[in-house]
Amino acid sequence: MLKVLLERRSIRKYKEKKVEEEKIKQILAAGKVAPSGKNKKPWEFVVIENKEILKKLSMVKPKGGLFLAESPTCIAVVGNEEISDTWVEDCSIASTFIQLEACNQGLGSCWVQMKNRFTKDGGDAEEIVKEILEISDNKRVLCIISIGYPDQKIFAYKEENYL
Ligand SMILES: Cc1cc2nc3c(=O)[nH]c(=O)nc-3n(C[C@H](O)[C@H](O)[C@H](O)COP(=O)(O)O)c2cc1C
Repeated sequence: MLKVLLERRSIRKYKEKKVEEEKIKQILAAGKVAPSGKNKKPWEFVVIENKEILKKLSMVKPKGGLFLAESPTCIAVVGNEEISDTWVEDCSIASTFIQLEACNQGLGSCWVQMKNRFTKDGGDAEEIVKEILEISDNKRVLCIISIGYPDQKIFAYKEENYL
């Protein structure tokens, strides 16, 4: 099996160290080469490094995303349902490619779901994220992927975990 498939784990605690621009470029490139229905690539990847914006994003959901505030870099995976009816599938694969390349670059990452998730008052988390990131109405936000140098150790999967 590819080593990166076993080594990728969800990392939710990061060192303060900034992620180098070249690494972000490679990670975005991985998202862009993901397969998509009819090759429509109905995605946009929004890179967020502004601390104030990250703080706002971290508070959208009551749990499961608090660590976004302390993540050096995040990538919002945005889909366009007007371009493709397989945008969820396409953006999910792109998100996975992004996470695998982050691991390949020696970085940790975690998928934070926004589609079909709710604020503490029962509001639509995705809509709040769209407001914060100024994303237009015709677009959708599947998830936000946090990325950074790991500050926690999680074991790589071993044969006993999947055989
Ligand atoms: C569709 C999807 C949604 C997820 N949403 C969240 C989330 O909102 N917050 C979070 O901390 N982790 C989230 N995760 C990460 C999972 O919890 C994690 O992948 C799972 O526990 C397995 O651990 P591993 O990634 O280390 O193999 C999500 C993963 C997927 C694929």
